Amino acid sequence: MFSNHQTDPSITAKLIKIAATKDVPPGQAAVFTVERQRIARFNVEGTYYAIGDTCTHRSGSLLEGAVQGTKVTCPWHGADFDRKTGAALGPPAQNGVPSYKVVIEGDDIKVEV
Ligand code: FES
Repeated sequence: MFSNHQTDPSITAKLIKIAATKDVPPGQAAVFTVERQRIARFNVEGTYYAIGDTCTHRSGSLLEGAVQGTKVTCPWHGADFDRKTGAALGPPAQNGVPSYKVVIEGDDIKVEV
C-alpha cells in the first residue's frame, strides 16, 4: 500500500483552478477532470484534499464512495483509501491513487498537476 503523491522535482508542476471555496462546503466533495486526470476533491472539516477519483481495483469512482473520517470506501467492491494521501488502506485495491497538492489562493481552490 502506498501513496503516489507527485513529489518528483524533475516534473514541472502547475497550479490549476478547479473551483471556488464557496462551492465546496465542509463535508462535500466534487470531481474534476484536469489534464485528462479525474480528480476527486474533498473538504474534510475545512481542509481540502485532492486524490485520483478512479479506484485502482476496477475503476470505481471514489467520489461516490462512503466517507468516514479521512477514509473513503470504493462503492464497487469496498476498497478503502485515505482521502488525505490516496494510500490504499484495505483490499481489494493493492495500490493507492495519486494525491495532489491543494493550494488556496483567495477564494480559489487550485490543484498542482
Ligand atoms: S473498483 Fe474499487 S474496490 Fe473494486
